[in-house]
Amino acid sequence: MAKIKTKWTCQSCGYEAPKYMGKCPECGSWGSFTEELINNETPISKIAASCLTESKVYKINEIKSEEKARLKTGFDEFDRVLGGGAVSGSVILIAGDPGIGKSTLVLQTAKTIAKEGKKVLYICAEESSTQVKLRAERLNVNSENIFVYSQTDIENIKKEIKNIKPDFLIIDSIQAVFDREITSSAGSVSQIRECTNVFTEIAKAENITTVIIGHVTKDGSIAGPRVLEHMTDVVLNFEGDKYKTYRILRSIKNRFGCTNEIGIFNMAENGLCEITNPCEIFLSERSGAITPGSTIIAASEGSRILTAEIQALVSTTNYPAPRRVANGADYNRLLQILAVIEKRIGLKFNNSDVYVNITGGIEIDEPAADLGIALAIITCARDVIVSPDTVLVGEIGLAGEIRKVNNIEKRIAEAQKLGFKRILVPKGNLGTSSNFEIEIVETEKIADAITCCIQR
Ligand code: TYD
Ligand code: MG
Repeated sequence: MAKIKTKWTCQSCGYEAPKYMGKCPECGSWGSFTEELINNETPISKIAASCLTESKVYKINEIKSEEKARLKTGFDEFDRVLGGGAVSGSVILIAGDPGIGKSTLVLQTAKTIAKEGKKVLYICAEESSTQVKLRAERLNVNSENIFVYSQTDIENIKKEIKNIKPDFLIIDSIQAVFDREITSSAGSVSQIRECTNVFTEIAKAENITTVIIGHVTKDGSIAGPRVLEHMTDVVLNFEGDKYKTYRILRSIKNRFGCTNEIGIFNMAENGLCEITNPCEIFLSERSGAITPGSTIIAASEGSRILTAEIQALVSTTNYPAPRRVANGADYNRLLQILAVIEKRIGLKFNNSDVYVNITGGIEIDEPAADLGIALAIITCARDVIVSPDTVLVGEIGLAGEIRKVNNIEKRIAEAQKLGFKRILVPKGNLGTSSNFEIEIVETEKIADAITCCIQR
């Protein structure tokens, strides 16, 4: 009898080894190897041979460019993250924690697409069709154009795709689908890779817009390998605070639009609704008396400006090594800002714990938030306040200089729209022509910023 050949595959990055390894040499994770049978005729070679092959070589100026149609999802926020709607025939991966609302989002999208007279096939590999029906009732989805198929075997799924010929295909989730030809269990790297390959191939060949839902692991990466990210056209992360109702859809990769774009939703009783004016929500809790250690910044997220409140707390430490905590802000930038304040302003933090929090649970790691973070810390340490009608924008350099940032006009316009009276911007950032009503204060050094915006 022929000897059964096996290989060991790292479940977090897909690295293959002939024997068991405790630590993966590729991604460094521990205990992530599982044993899989080697198939002589690996499906990947079959697939690789069949997809994207053309018989002729073209000169680039001879290739006809075609503008592909885009399907509207019914959410302006979702469309914008996709770069103006889902390009037909594209493969979109939506990743997120369990319970965040991925199935809800795709079902609501299916509703809009079905309304347009397009056929939707929803493969629910994790739930029964009755469970999907219950969710559909809650979301008021009831259309004869939506087909629900509770199935995990990819061969059966392929058959039904051929049968129904949908315009829009949903795979919920890729971790639950399996291919019989591959011996490892569903959710393993090989299974995910092969199944995604099959769906990508079908999407391109039949021009079916495909949404693949993927789970994320505890550390936040997409379960299964990063290869999944390479195989799909668009990768979106659906994130949010379990304890808050709003959700952020973030574009990580987009072959048809720009990345860093975010869409904000609210999870309500009967589904997700989009939030078109997020700034009001992030600032809504900032009412009443302003306390020391609070500032407002205008951060740029994709094509949109988000104004958010930064809070800082500087307190006497009880620890041998003072604590530095950054919630929503970048930890290393916080350390750098503290060092600049110590050196250029002379405030000392060696006996203080410093906490910085961006309220509302959003994450902002762009350098333009530096000035807001610095002044939140300084005002808290000195027990003074920044006047509540002021917005702060600027990156802080190591010499204490305020450096220019991108999208400055958009940031000023947003601050003006929200009714702020004054905005601090880096010197020379705006140029000469400006017809804003809001007072624009140009600052060169962090010390200037302190003198012109602090109230006692
Ligand atoms: P779900 O879409 O099943 O999450 P995922 O597919 O990402 O695992 O949604 C899960 C949560 O959303 C669930 O805890 C209930 C809540 N929810 C609402 O609050 N309102 C709704 O209308 C629906 C359908 C779900
Ligand atoms: Mg789900």
